[in-house]
Amino acid sequence: MTPVLDPSSFSSVSKCATKHLNLIYHVEFDRRVLKGKVALTVEVLEDKLSSLCATKHLNLIYHVDFDRHVLKGKVALTVEVLEDKFSSLVHGQHVIVEIEYETSPSATALQWLTPTQTAGKKHPYLFSQCQATHCRTMIPCQDSPSVKHTYYAQVSVPRELVALMSALHDGQEPDPSDSSRVIYRFRQPVPMPSYLIAIVVGALESREIGPRSRVWSEKEYVDEAAFEFSETESMLKTAESLAGPYVWGQYDVLVLPPSFPYGGMENPCLTFVTPTVLAGDRSLAGVIAHEISHSWTGNLVTNRTWEHFWLNEGHTVYIERMIARCMASEQLRQFKGIGGWKELQESVKQFGANNVLTNLVPNLHEVDTDEAFSSVPYEKGFALLYHLEELLGGPEVFMGFVKSYIQLFAYGTVTTEEWKNYLFTYFKDKMDILNKVDWNAWMHTPGMAPVKPQYDTTMADACTALCQRWVKAKEEDLASFTEADVKKLNSPQLIEFMALLLQEEPLPLSHVKKMQEVYQLNSVKNAEVRFRWLRICVKAHWEEAVPLALKMATEQGRMKFTRPLFKEVYNFSKYSDEAVKTFKENRGALHPVTAMMVVKDLKING
Ligand code: BES
Ligand code: ZN
Repeated sequence: MTPVLDPSSFSSVSKCATKHLNLIYHVEFDRRVLKGKVALTVEVLEDKLSSLCATKHLNLIYHVDFDRHVLKGKVALTVEVLEDKFSSLVHGQHVIVEIEYETSPSATALQWLTPTQTAGKKHPYLFSQCQATHCRTMIPCQDSPSVKHTYYAQVSVPRELVALMSALHDGQEPDPSDSSRVIYRFRQPVPMPSYLIAIVVGALESREIGPRSRVWSEKEYVDEAAFEFSETESMLKTAESLAGPYVWGQYDVLVLPPSFPYGGMENPCLTFVTPTVLAGDRSLAGVIAHEISHSWTGNLVTNRTWEHFWLNEGHTVYIERMIARCMASEQLRQFKGIGGWKELQESVKQFGANNVLTNLVPNLHEVDTDEAFSSVPYEKGFALLYHLEELLGGPEVFMGFVKSYIQLFAYGTVTTEEWKNYLFTYFKDKMDILNKVDWNAWMHTPGMAPVKPQYDTTMADACTALCQRWVKAKEEDLASFTEADVKKLNSPQLIEFMALLLQEEPLPLSHVKKMQEVYQLNSVKNAEVRFRWLRICVKAHWEEAVPLALKMATEQGRMKFTRPLFKEVYNFSKYSDEAVKTFKENRGALHPVTAMMVVKDLKING
């Protein structure tokens, strides 16, 4: 029997560094396991290998081949074992650690879908999501963003399926040991952290959308996806003009099944996105601009630990909004800034203004990164960068700094302290300005950002005005609302209007019913609109909206939507039990991380 990979946490390790990872996977859908063999090429940074991989995490490994010194059976890589075997290691030496293992069916990095959970209904499907700390459940490795390595992989899958990874394609061949299977090969020549390793296996097809880009999905979505993401190449070119050359070669997009827990994930060479961005009018393609931006901030320059996650996300949102400025207008960037500030307010309200998880640089000691996740690193981070932009000379000047920061730290990792030191170096002539910034308030204090940016409200004014009309309306004013109110708004403005309403006290039921009558929002498909609309309805205690909200919470599993929808129904006390019941009925089909978070949100025990 091949023992199972222990999904408990690996400690981050610094006395050695993985340089290359060679992976062989045999994907077994019937057992929901990856049979794996990994070879880690490790450079010794101290004279001992004592802390390669913390003991408890590898003690279920079957076969460890340590530079040809074979340890068989259940091997616990204790400090003593390592010191005994490798007492002669010296600084700079490279050793190869080969580990044969099997993943657990409950590995939190993986979701295994049955054919009925796919669009085509014929074939099973598998996808991974490693960020932040789930890679360790699919590969025994130094699962820390401080370690960067290249990788090579060979994946054996049933012949009718396609495997893709976050890497360049390196050919395929029939599996010599099983004629019903094919082996796909991948190479990732750019060093990257383990959280960017990704795999998908399914009945996938693709279409070319640009000179270095294809979209991949089940065939049911591929045309829709090609239309939705047709601006990819022009986004890539814009990003390159801002941040420097794109070093990853290919930029493909994979549209996942609806249970994918995030909006997007910047897996190198192959961005993963939720199908909920397929709006039919390209209005939600900003997710692609965001994931493209990670090709520089996140993937090339990487946060050294998850405490510095804002360096990844804050800079990425900054570049994403610079792309919007270049491709559309400065007014659009300003409008997005307003929306972002509101997201920050929501997160601060959610966590509580004194919660240290709302610090830009939180202490994550013994904190689950999935539970710490919020808009704070994104939007407090963006607010800080925008504030600095205003202080230091505007978008061109500040983007010059961001580009230079990327060049300096490319292929490496960075902490907030290093970022700040470089900021002071780059703007050495503006030291007086930088010294006036309240750094402690920005970085180490909970709650809202200490300075609220003054954004241009040209695009937001129509949203604020319509929101206030509804909030102030008396019963006798309801007749004044017409379909024309929303016809004047574009899609992002409609979303902003709904987001504003959500920040107000719940509307009276009569208002919400009238809103449905004149705007027909129940039939809107756009997920960002629908999500907010259903929350507005449930908040107003409109019972008819409860089944619709629970339907949306379970038909797709993007955590940004599913968690608040479940919570909203749960908070409507008459329907708390209904929310819990619906969750329990659907639990089996949910992504493991989503399920875990909803359990916490709905205070379900056991
Ligand atoms: N890297 C994140 C997603 C992520 C973060 C996954 C932390 C797991 C842990 C990705 O780039 C992201 O930010 N996605 C956003 C997209 C949005 C900001 C356009 C999302 O999923 O909502
Ligand atoms: Zn991101």
